[in-house]
Amino acid sequence: MNLNINVDRVVDELQRLATFSACPDPPPAVTRVVFTQEDMAARKYLRSLFESAGLVVRNDAVGNIFARWVGSQPDQPVVGTGSHTDAIPFSGMYDGTVGVLGGLEAIRALQDAGFKPMRSIELLMFTSEEPTRFGMGCTGSRVMAGQLDHDALEALVDSDGDTYNLVRQRAGFDGDVADAALDRSYYHAWVELHIEQGPELEQAGLPIGIVTAIAAPATMIVKVHGQGGHAGAVLMPKRHDALAASAEMIQAIEKHVLESSSDDTVGTVGELDVHPGAVNSIPSEVRFTIDLRDVSLASRDEVKTKIESDLQSIGQRRGVKVDCETLNADPPVTASADLIEAAEQACQDSRLKYQRMVSRAYHDSLFLAQLSPFTMLFIPCRDGVSHRPDEYSSPDQIGSGVEVLARTLAKLSTAAL
Ligand code: GLV
Ligand code: MN
Ligand code: MN
Repeated sequence: MNLNINVDRVVDELQRLATFSACPDPPPAVTRVVFTQEDMAARKYLRSLFESAGLVVRNDAVGNIFARWVGSQPDQPVVGTGSHTDAIPFSGMYDGTVGVLGGLEAIRALQDAGFKPMRSIELLMFTSEEPTRFGMGCTGSRVMAGQLDHDALEALVDSDGDTYNLVRQRAGFDGDVADAALDRSYYHAWVELHIEQGPELEQAGLPIGIVTAIAAPATMIVKVHGQGGHAGAVLMPKRHDALAASAEMIQAIEKHVLESSSDDTVGTVGELDVHPGAVNSIPSEVRFTIDLRDVSLASRDEVKTKIESDLQSIGQRRGVKVDCETLNADPPVTASADLIEAAEQACQDSRLKYQRMVSRAYHDSLFLAQLSPFTMLFIPCRDGVSHRPDEYSSPDQIGSGVEVLARTLAKLSTAAL
């Protein structure tokens, strides 16, 4: 099939999407947090693009947007693609967005080529892949996979104290969360296009990566309760400084991750709140987060257990109380051999080189994997940089990803598989 990918159109749309941003810096710096006015304006823009392509658009109860190109056998399970468009503070304009606008372009290119899907092809924009507002990532896809119900969303609270349910309802998504959970018969296949967010493809000089597995995160929230006091008056032997204790804990976390039996284990403390936060006051309370990942569940959980036990020993030795709550501990997933093969065939049809690889970042595909056979397509990003304003993939790299996605979707929509 001769495919004409209109890369200029996708890049224009990516640039327009980047203007829906609360970031004090101009695009390419982007901040777009779920259910804020910027997210709502971006959704309106996306819906208009989806409708212009003749897709049938609907929202579910948490605002996931589904845009369907109805196939000749509309009762068959669908072939899904898509990604997210929320963006963490001061991030870039390609993370997630390439999978949504690239997915749309793949559909438009197939339409222009006269392709007729047998199974419907459905484009998705997931609500809140990023954990920025409610602490937990992939809430939209978790709801779809039946992993978060109304009560669980009631327990997720933003920094204003508003629950997920309140905020979604205010944004106009007030349906029953139970209805948003999909049945396993919904999908025939799922393929997500995304920037790699790491350096491997660029270093290998390859335009496409085909994902074989996704590393999964465990997210922990640690609260350290020490004793505050006057920074001049309390002598050192009398102190139970929550921040000094946390500093030792953070060192211990890094040590256990470095000593992991698996090279794939990574651990990050990315948030630290200190109370009361005054130059002349001993910190009495500290809250920090731990993000721990691996493609091997056993290796990740072994490190997690060591960290949990060490935090308690450090706390006891320093006379501070430690609460360590696990917010999520998701299992890694393995991609479908059939879908990997379909994607490889699509690369060959496009005369593009590729490699198989694992995804070290997590994605909504981690949860779609519970509903459907899946794989992901990666394109390189400059210097492997992501979650930063200088995140960049070139028009050519995006065009290659869209072309391979289009061919993969076409195969999955028609093949017996
Ligand atoms: C997703 O944004 C991740 O943190 O991997
Ligand atoms: Mn991200
Ligand atoms: Mn992403």
